Amino acid sequence: MSSPALPGGTLLQGDLTLSRFGYGAMQLAGPGVMGPPADRDAALAVLREVVELGITHIDTAGVYGPRFTNRLIREALHPYPETLHVATKVGAERDEQGGWPPAREPGDLRRAVHENLEDLGLEVLDLVNLRLGNAMGPQPESVATAFETLVELRQEGLIRHLGVSNATAEQVAEARSIAPIVCVQNMYNLAHRQDDKLIDELADEGIAYVPFFPLGGFSPLQSSALSAVAARLNATPMSVALAWLLQRSPNILLIPGTSSLAHLRENVAGAGLRLSPEDLAELDTIGR
Ligand SMILES: NC(=O)c1ccc[n+]([C@@H]2O[C@H](COP(=O)([O-])OP(=O)(O)OC[C@H]3O[C@@H](n4cnc5c(N)ncnc54)[C@H](OP(=O)(O)O)[C@@H]3O)[C@@H](O)[C@H]2O)c1
Repeated sequence: MSSPALPGGTLLQGDLTLSRFGYGAMQLAGPGVMGPPADRDAALAVLREVVELGITHIDTAGVYGPRFTNRLIREALHPYPETLHVATKVGAERDEQGGWPPAREPGDLRRAVHENLEDLGLEVLDLVNLRLGNAMGPQPESVATAFETLVELRQEGLIRHLGVSNATAEQVAEARSIAPIVCVQNMYNLAHRQDDKLIDELADEGIAYVPFFPLGGFSPLQSSALSAVAARLNATPMSVALAWLLQRSPNILLIPGTSSLAHLRENVAGAGLRLSPEDLAELDTIGR
């Protein structure tokens, strides 16, 4: 494995050294994140390139495919390099329409953790996020029973570190009152700035913030200000969006998704772009 310096360097969370430039594996499943990828060899090649590039943080979930993406990760990369950390999520399932209904009863969570272990070929999961809310976003409700189940699974030696996802600030606080967390994974990007305050608070507490949909997800980011800054810097809008996140706060870990080798390389190359105070001020107008 080569290890060229990746944009953003690394962040230490608990005993995990995570490259701030990580990889989100959701795009590797078939259309609608259901079934196998259209081009299996291409998906395996993307995963192998992730490791070749020196990335040490892959984000996945048993619900991608479901189960197809985790099995691809295992096929491409097992036995895993010691430096690689695969973070997964539990707390949802897939229905026949491709929906993502919650599945956060203790039995659901136990089953999901065991399926992740089996599909990834691991005896212990480095990082498990409790996925809260629903497809509409975070929903106010207690996380206690579900989070306590994950704490039990950690005490049983099946999980090393915990996080929460799709969570309100109140749910982050409730989870932290039960057990330490190393990260919060919520939707956030240049155009969706609802977690600005939370990111700063977590940075002060040494907790990572992992924005999902960093490039806009299923609706790619589009903005005249973003295009203008990108044109001025002779860069792509995606590079600017990723560079902005890395510069937004030192506790941010990137997990951009792609099924394309070319996009993966382009994103790694572009995210190191240095944005000036003028660029940042112009980009700041997008999500305000
Ligand atoms: N916790 C949660 O509830 C939750 C929800 C959603 C996602 N996630 C996680 O967050 C990760 C990132 O989210 P995401 O993949 O949905 O969205 P994203 O990273 O915002 O965007 C991915 C999309 O951008 C495209 N793309 C990537 N690089 C590009 C480039 N250089 N030029 C043009 N298009 C480019 C990809 O298409 P190509 O494949 O063609 O490159 C894909 O359609 C996921 O993989 C998943 O691990 C978590």
